[in-house]
Parts: sequence; C-alpha cells; structure tokens
Amino acid sequence: MKETKNPAALILLFGATGDLAKRKLYPSLFNLYRKGLLSNKFAVLGVARREKTNEEFQNWVKESVQTFGESNDQLSDFVKHFYYQSHDVTNSESYRQLKTTVDNLDQLYTLEGNRIFYLAMSPEFFGTVAEHLKEERLTQTNGFKRLVIEKPFGHDLASAKELNNQIRTAFSENEIYRIDHYLGKEMVQNIEVIRFANAIFEPLWNNRHISNIQVTSSEVLGVEERARYYDKNGALRDMMQNHMLQMVSLLAMEPPIKLTTEEIRSEKVKVLRALRPFNKEEVHKYFVRGQYGNGVIDGKQVPAYREESMVQPESNTETYVAAKLMIDNFRWAGVPFYVRTGKRMQTKSTKIVVQFKDMPMNLYYKNGSSLNPNLLVIHIQPEEGITLHLNVKKTGQSVETTPVKLNFSNKSVDGMNTPEAYEKLLFDCLRGDATNFTHWDEVALSWSFVDKISEVWSTEKAVFPNYEAGSMGPIEADHLLAQDGFFWWPIADFDIDNC
Ligand code: BG6
Repeated sequence: MKETKNPAALILLFGATGDLAKRKLYPSLFNLYRKGLLSNKFAVLGVARREKTNEEFQNWVKESVQTFGESNDQLSDFVKHFYYQSHDVTNSESYRQLKTTVDNLDQLYTLEGNRIFYLAMSPEFFGTVAEHLKEERLTQTNGFKRLVIEKPFGHDLASAKELNNQIRTAFSENEIYRIDHYLGKEMVQNIEVIRFANAIFEPLWNNRHISNIQVTSSEVLGVEERARYYDKNGALRDMMQNHMLQMVSLLAMEPPIKLTTEEIRSEKVKVLRALRPFNKEEVHKYFVRGQYGNGVIDGKQVPAYREESMVQPESNTETYVAAKLMIDNFRWAGVPFYVRTGKRMQTKSTKIVVQFKDMPMNLYYKNGSSLNPNLLVIHIQPEEGITLHLNVKKTGQSVETTPVKLNFSNKSVDGMNTPEAYEKLLFDCLRGDATNFTHWDEVALSWSFVDKISEVWSTEKAVFPNYEAGSMGPIEADHLLAQDGFFWWPIADFDIDNC
C-alpha cells in the first residue's frame, strides 16, 4: 500500500518564476497542502535567473495561488515553506551556493535528504542542469533523489537520445519522471479502469467487435506566445508524439498482470512497438496535416498562423494533424485508430469515441432507417465522464428504434472539481509512483514513429493555410475516414451536459 501522505522532501524548482510554475505547480502544491496530503516536512527552493528575496518569492507564490487556484487562510503558512535563490544554470559556483542552501533546508525541515529536482524551464538546459547537479554533488544524498522533467523531451529520436544520455549520467531511469500531463488527467487514468474493471467491455474490446476508435484533442487557442518553440515543432511533435500516442496505448494495451508501474508500462510499450510504420507514400495516405488561416472565433476575427508574431511568414509548420494509425497485433489487426489534434479549432475538447461494429442484420429497418452503431464515448475534457449510446424501442405501438444515451458525468457525481493533472502527478512523484510518467522506451518508440512522418513533411512544402480558424480542420481529414466508410463523430453533439 502506498502512503496516503507524502514523505518529507525538498523540491528544488528550476524555472520558479515561469508560467508553468505560476499557473499549475503552486496552485497544485497548495491543493495538496490544504487537503492534508503534504507532509509538514517540505520545503520548496525556487530558482530562476532574476533576483528576488524570499519574501518577494513567497508573495509571488501567494498571488499565483490566489489567481490560478483555490486559496484559503492556510495560504500564509504554506508559503513560509518557500525559499528563493537567483541562479545561473551554466555556472558551477551557482550550484555550489545552491548546495549550501539545500543542505541548510534539509536540516531545518528534517527532510531526510529526500530531493526532487523539478525542471520547469527551457528544455535546452535540461542536460546541463542534470550534469551540474551531479558534479556539484547535489545528487549525493542519503534520501531519495528524483528528476522531474517537462516536455519536450527532445525534438526527434536523435536529440532525445542525446538528452537521455546526459541526464542518465546523474539519475537512473527509475529516478526520472518525464511528465506527460495528459497522464495526470482523471479520465485518461480512467481508460484503464473502464476497460479492466467492467466485464461488459473487455470481451468486446477487439477487432471482432470494434470497427474503429476516434481520438480527438481540439483546441480553440492559437499558438499564443509560444511561436518560438512551436514553429520548430508543430502539432505532430507537440501533441501526437506524446499525449495522443499515450492515449492510444492506454486504449489498445493488453490487461497488465498487475497494476505495477513496470507491468503497465510494458503493456503500453508493446502497443507502440506494434504501431505500423509508414513509408513515404503511406504517409500521404495515412496522415493529414493542416495549418490555420484566419477566421472567426467567438465572434472575433483571429489572424492566420502565418500572421502570428514570431512565426515565419512562409511557415511550413502544421498546427493540425490527423492520422489513421494501425496496430498490427492480434487484438487490433484491421481496426483503424483515427487520431486528430489541432489549434484554432471550433471547440476545446478531448474525447475518445469507440465505435462498435454494426449488428449483422437490422431487424428494425423501416423506411430507409438504419440502426445507429453503439458508441462508447470517453469525455476527457472539459467535461469528464462516459456515455454509452444504445438503441431502444420508440415508445408506442411501432417497433421502430430510437437512440438513447447512458451517461456518467464525473463532476456531477462527486459534486466537486476533480484535481488538476499536476496535483496528481506531483503527489505521485513525491510518493515515488512513476506509473503515470513516460518511460524512456515509450519516448524512444514514439519518436521513431513520428520521425518517419516529419522526415517526409520536412522535405515537401504543404499547401497552407488549409483550414479556417474556428473550423474542425482540413477537409482531407474527413476523406481519411470517408475512404473507409466512416466519419468523425461530431464532438459537439457529445457534450455530456446535453446528453
Ligand atoms: C501541451 C502542448 O503539451 O498541451 C500545448 O505543448 C497544448 O501546445 C497543451 O496547448 C494542451 O493541453 P490541454 O491539457 O489544455 O489539452
């Protein structure tokens, strides 16, 4: 049994004044604190380039919780655990100073030498920081040491390998916690439970009964202030390599023999190994890329991607990607997994639609009516829940059918908001549970799959823009399904509140 409370630990946070820390990490830590899930023996040492006093930093943390989280009168006590040090990531002396502060905090809070090094900063420094932590002996401790690392983990397989080799000089694989924040989402974690805790689904979860699976993660926001990073990466690397493939592996994996980190990971890895690789011609057939033009969102005119600041005027970067993935194993042979994600789309939504095969014959066929297929919809966000689409008899004398939906909404049952993904991931990391973090094998396999696509795309200029901001993406993504006799289920119709 895992502890229900976190052990003593120091969190050494790089990028302490950055956006991620402000929006996600401080509010999430405070949630753990006010729920009594954080040991009182904890301290956070925030580091970043700019100068700040401890007091200024504590006020900054306070403000971030008040703005982005739920605050209460415990907040003042909470921020007393926060300390700050200005730091230069490339300078050894700066790490020596850090070590002195870390050792002092260790004594002050009796932290038993437990250390979490959290890199919420520009990825170009991940390797340098890890190496310096080792050289300056910050990683030499009697307690546990863990490295939490944000994405992107490399830009392709080669750079990911290089980065991995660098961080492995200071941390072993089981001390590295690579964040994929989708794995912290309540309903992503629920995929496994829906599948393996319900006798009615698992026997049907294969190519004999499922015709296709659709995974959509659409965003309304554009590239915002991240064009410097995004224009070099695009949707394929930004979303498909990690979040989308992670959801696919959870949907497709075999039941693990036990719910341990190793067993679950090993099943996910097998799915990634079974992903059909594509050659150049197949990339054109199985993948669609898009880039948004201008359009109207919430009644307001928004600019095209190429007009966003810091984006190259002739940019060939995709802001949308749709794919037909094939998993070549016994369970899934012949079942397409259609996956799409993009920016500046009609709605912010992440949903999974599992479409079951049609009945072998329709007894209720009348006046051209057809039976709706059974669907299982998993609502990841913004609403959380599941909907099962069935057919029943229309009330009255006739034997016509009508579709109905059985609905479970997570929020309405609990009557409270489910915890932020980051809250859960921080909790897991503090307790040493790496199940919901990505193992190197998963990262490597995902990159090697995605690299084949980007190699083709980088050598061929796309006809961009090819979808209007505020739409559901390029028309070619509809053709991807139409050629197999399917269509994207309109995700707006699946809004759980309308069910
Ligand atoms: C991040 C991507 O990993 O996920 C962003 O870098 C994207 O581009 C974000 O906007 C989407 O996350 P969520 O939780 O809002 O779906």
